[in-house]
Amino acid sequence: MSRFTPETIERVRDATDIVEIVSAYTDLRRQGERFVGLCPFHDERTPSFSVKPRDGFYYCFGCEAGGDAIRFVQEKEGLAFPDAVEALAERYGVEVERETEDPKAEEARRRRGRLGEALERVAAFYESFLWESPKARKARTYLIEERGLGEEVLRSFGVGFAPSAWDSVLTRGQQAGYSVDELLAAGLIQRSQRNPGSHYDRFRGRITFPVRDHRGRVVGFGARGMGPDAKPKYLNSPESEVYRKSRTLYGIDRARGPIARGGRAVVVEGYTDVIALHGAGVEETVAVMGTAITPEQLKLLGGYAEEVVLALDADRAGREAMLRAQRVAGSGRLRLLVAAMPEGEDPADMMQSEEGSNRLRELLADAVDLAVFHVRAILGDADLSNPPGRDRALDEVVPVLVGMGETITRQEMVREVADRLDAAPELVAGRMKSGGRRPAARPEPVGRVGDGQSQAPPRRRREPTQEERREAMMLALCMDAPDLSASYFERLGPDHFTSPILRAVFERLREHPADPLDGLGESDSALINAITKLQAVDHEPATREDLEFRWMLLERDRLDRTLRHPEGLEPADLVAMQKERGRLADAISSVEARGIGGAVPGPAAR
Ligand code: CTP
Ligand code: MN
Repeated sequence: MSRFTPETIERVRDATDIVEIVSAYTDLRRQGERFVGLCPFHDERTPSFSVKPRDGFYYCFGCEAGGDAIRFVQEKEGLAFPDAVEALAERYGVEVERETEDPKAEEARRRRGRLGEALERVAAFYESFLWESPKARKARTYLIEERGLGEEVLRSFGVGFAPSAWDSVLTRGQQAGYSVDELLAAGLIQRSQRNPGSHYDRFRGRITFPVRDHRGRVVGFGARGMGPDAKPKYLNSPESEVYRKSRTLYGIDRARGPIARGGRAVVVEGYTDVIALHGAGVEETVAVMGTAITPEQLKLLGGYAEEVVLALDADRAGREAMLRAQRVAGSGRLRLLVAAMPEGEDPADMMQSEEGSNRLRELLADAVDLAVFHVRAILGDADLSNPPGRDRALDEVVPVLVGMGETITRQEMVREVADRLDAAPELVAGRMKSGGRRPAARPEPVGRVGDGQSQAPPRRRREPTQEERREAMMLALCMDAPDLSASYFERLGPDHFTSPILRAVFERLREHPADPLDGLGESDSALINAITKLQAVDHEPATREDLEFRWMLLERDRLDRTLRHPEGLEPADLVAMQKERGRLADAISSVEARGIGGAVPGPAAR
């Protein structure tokens, strides 16, 4: 990646509200033109930390930490300078410019531009087909009459209909000057299995929902089959150079303004839920598109919202997704709430009747703290009919209560728990103390790849070794590109990992490449934390070249470890290994000389 222009960095500094950034870590009080508070860099009782918004600097008279907002983010969130600049640029809506790029990066950007353009045109084509073609009459009737969605809101989301022909996009796309390769890369067409070398449209005879990034650029589509037994119900664009599902929230381009104004985001499951809610004026709604919310999605929301209301399915899977959200909640001040959706109903359905729509609004307004939801979920699942069952419930509930920090809400929950468990409130409170006296929890900040136990007392983390960094990056890339990574899972083994937790992640990923978190429960929190942290690692979209490079690094590290203890190796093996080690080293340096792969260190993830 090439460097930012000096003007970009200037603009980021100007746009950043340093008081807001610092306030995620410590409470500041105004004192004249300064703000003062307890230093977030060292332990202290009396405030010696000060922030001067006019100059954009902070300084601690105690530990002499000081700098600007970018420095602060680097320090507190463990980000490299360029990542910190980008995070702030993103958050404060500053457009970044770079010095003339190296040709490769420029080419990649140009290509993304082309793919984006193709997607944009196809979205417009589908949209006009929906409203103008007689062949889309059924789709119009379905959306408007059956689903009760208004034409205006459908248009504002650019909903469309893909003709049922096999080549509408293939032909038009090529006529418009896009190559087959570009259309493939944009996920608009696919290869034919039966006739090698030929291609056909991915979306046919389906209602199309263009998925846009926060800046409103089309990155992919969700496409719903008509009628209840369409299979699959939704066909989605694949991940691509422009579409990263874990970083995308459906509707964010239209919702970001309303979210920033109200400070609240509503997160629902699906496309139609978003459209129904926007249509009814709840315009701060976005969708996770049926998967568990990711750290990157929360980070995106954290740029606009203070509060996120999860209005996800009430079923077991939805519930686990919400609890998972609690673990991945990164972004400084983000408060997570849950609106308890009735089983078997989703927001889009509810919005169809006046009564349902009122009920939904009430549910959103009555959303409870995620921790409260969690406590109630534990109590709801527990067998409270006998003392041992109640003891087990207490064991489970205590860490959640501790994590809530010293709040009135928690005090009320202690009473509620005591009541439900038929226990004295003092018993519950006592267990919370012996369960570890911890300071009030501050959620872990964005980008920090910590151990996820936000309630643990601050302690200095051991710096990850270079080997561990490489292991983490390999896994992060594999997770990013499950299709590319399959062959690496065959070549990698547990002995490529020095870090036990990363080894566990590797084994997990190998079994569940598509959704590594699937089916993990309370007892797997270390694994869940490690996986979600790796998902949050910033890096360029994974390419085969990156993976190959990363694989070589791990293999070289493994050989080095073996060769460090050559005792017991057959001489022939030893020679073969040394040869292989030499070959790898050469291959690695030649890649490094070309400048591939070396440029993705990202934050240390362990
Ligand atoms: N989803 C998906 N693929 C599927 C099913 C669901 O990608 N096969 C995603 C879609 O983003 C969908 C969301 O999960 O919007 C929620 O799924 P579901 O509740 O089944 O769909 P709805 O959006 O409610 O669809 P509809 O209301 O049209 O039935
Ligand atoms: Mn639905």
